[in-house]
Amino acid sequence: MADPSKQFTDRVVVVTGASRGIGAATALAFARAGATVVAGCPALDADDHRQAVLSWREGAGLAPEQVAPVVADVSRVEEVEAFYEVVENHFGRVDVLVNNAGINRDHTLAKMTDEEWRAVLAVNLDGTFYNCRAVLRLISDGGRIINISSMVAQTGNFGVANYAASKAGILGLTKSLALELAPRQITVNAVCPGFIDTEMTRGMPADVLNGYVDRIPVGRAGTPDDIAATVLFLASPGAAYITGQSLGVNGGLYTGD
Ligand code: NAI
Repeated sequence: MADPSKQFTDRVVVVTGASRGIGAATALAFARAGATVVAGCPALDADDHRQAVLSWREGAGLAPEQVAPVVADVSRVEEVEAFYEVVENHFGRVDVLVNNAGINRDHTLAKMTDEEWRAVLAVNLDGTFYNCRAVLRLISDGGRIINISSMVAQTGNFGVANYAASKAGILGLTKSLALELAPRQITVNAVCPGFIDTEMTRGMPADVLNGYVDRIPVGRAGTPDDIAATVLFLASPGAAYITGQSLGVNGGLYTGD
């Protein structure tokens, strides 16, 4: 009988932004569940990010054929196209794409520069678009696309207009692409994490950070593993009838749609 803990055996899974945080936890969870994982890393500081993938792969006792770091800056269309050339040449197809790469450049709108606006839209929204479009010729029927959005796409927040706009854009992209790919039984969903303990949130001032955690009904910040578990569920056969949805994973911090 097949080992249920290895439910992604023979599946090729692409995770962007897999060097650390939510992306690394997700890539690791897929690899442990039997998948062959392509761990996307940005070309900016490429050596550091690629090395980070090699480090967590080694730390987890995984073999090189289970997790392959491949470099691309998701905000650069030519790098994303080249990334999928590599994926095609080495793996032939993609079964699951997780668009996780993301950045923030926080400022109130009055102080937000054009560069801060464009940088965040370019990585978070353009990057998701470029990956979705490029994967279309490689993704198998019955495949999965899971886009990491954010709770702030649903609620807004102080000082993050660029980030919230990029993440809300992902929700519209997700719903539209879900309709386009439904005839091929490919599902497209978004995950909206709340406050997750990663390097992205650790950069906040301690009083702001503690203020957020105090307001979370379940009484703790989320972990990258909380998000990874949700992504694996959406990628599993049991989620075949869920598409075009935005799933909040926020410890009760927001209970709306
Ligand atoms: P992180 O900063 O720890 O990791 C971000 C990852 O994105 C890194 O692996 C980095 O190498 C990659 N990346 C950044 N720019 C890139 C580019 N141009 N091309 C390719 N890869 C690039 O952040 P974290 O917290 O793990 O975030 C992962 C995703 O989850 C992001 O999309 C973020 O917006 C989202 N998210 C995080 C929340 C949190 O509380 N930490 C809450 C809601 C959403």
